[in-house]
Amino acid sequence: MSFDPHSIRDQFPILGRRVNGAPLVYLDNAASAQKPNAVIDSMAQRMRTSYANVHRGLHTLANETTEAYEAARGIVAEYLGADRDEIVFTRGGTEAINLVAGSLGVGMAEGDEVVLTEMEHHSNIVPWHLLRERKGVVLRFARVAEDGSLDVEHLMGLLGPRTRVVALTHMSNVLGTINPVQAVTEAAHAVGAKVLVDGCQGAVHATPDVKAIGCDFYVFTGHKLYGPTGIGVLYGKAEALAAMPPWQGGGEMIESVSIGRVTYAEPPMRFEAGTPPIVEAIGLGAAIDWLAQFDRQAVHAHEKALYERALERINGANWFRQIGTAPGKGAILAFTVEGAHAHDIAQVLDKYGVAVRAGQHCAEPLMRRFDVTSSVRASFALYNTLEEADAFADALVKARQFFV
Ligand SMILES: Cc1ncc(COP(=O)(O)O)c(C=O)c1O
Repeated sequence: MSFDPHSIRDQFPILGRRVNGAPLVYLDNAASAQKPNAVIDSMAQRMRTSYANVHRGLHTLANETTEAYEAARGIVAEYLGADRDEIVFTRGGTEAINLVAGSLGVGMAEGDEVVLTEMEHHSNIVPWHLLRERKGVVLRFARVAEDGSLDVEHLMGLLGPRTRVVALTHMSNVLGTINPVQAVTEAAHAVGAKVLVDGCQGAVHATPDVKAIGCDFYVFTGHKLYGPTGIGVLYGKAEALAAMPPWQGGGEMIESVSIGRVTYAEPPMRFEAGTPPIVEAIGLGAAIDWLAQFDRQAVHAHEKALYERALERINGANWFRQIGTAPGKGAILAFTVEGAHAHDIAQVLDKYGVAVRAGQHCAEPLMRRFDVTSSVRASFALYNTLEEADAFADALVKARQFFV
């Protein structure tokens, strides 16, 4: 089955925009994806017709909103192949990782080890650095090979009796590399370590089947999955969440509170202190429901075709250096242009209506690994077309002319 982006583009109002006199070509999807009407309408409808705080009211609007919020939890659980009590709503992928690091960190001691990879987003590095500073935990980084694939052998060699956590990305937000998270999970479990998979990209462009992966935690963020900002997801295996202390304190995460004592609610409520992002969770549910109408493999194949088309059009130009060519990678194209700074290229592309990212992509260790200070990144989504891939490549060739 093939996927036709033209059939869905008019469901994304923003894609009809013009930018600097040209039709918008939005290729900054790895940073944040655009939203279909199904998401926008579900959120507006909620606020227009039935909105109240969740879990605490006895009136109709509170009950209706609670039902919708909990239905969203069910939709997310199904998307990941998890049970609903294994889904914690957070305010983003970053918060979900901080939650795990903060909560697991309570039980960690000086000299305990956390294994990461050189291709992690800062969101999956800095929370562990905080633990290093607080607890004296040791961070070990698995190497990335020249083609952008994970050096799995090196990672396996870092595992040992002091490894408490292995935290790695499902798909790199720069290289597009899709990591063998299942094999890493098996090896980590063999030394008694917990595994956190950062699925902020993987939940969109790979297969986020948490039971097949076997990981203890899987994290993703709503806004890259065509949903709203302000909502993230932490999947935690039931037994892992049950053993974890709360991360933040506040309303709704307790069983009882008295002057001298507090007891905590069961997961997932234990980890949802205060008023949660209600409308955002419902919007995320709408995004996943909307996506469910498409054949996942066909969407991935379409995105890959866009990436290949852009590369084909650039046709190995000698001024173009691609970063990340691992086999089976997703549709992200990171590169440098000889003689031009990445920021300058992105600014000139914008003049042609082409939106790309330039900089370090919150992955400074990876930039250092590839000996660059920044790169340009074009990242493709299901609504992009082959014509847009051509427009991007043609604009890039023209942009480069400014710097020769
Ligand atoms: C791989 C990866 N992890 C984590 C994040 C952080 O997501 P958020 O900023 O939504 O918390 C991102 C966002 O760029 C990402 O690409």
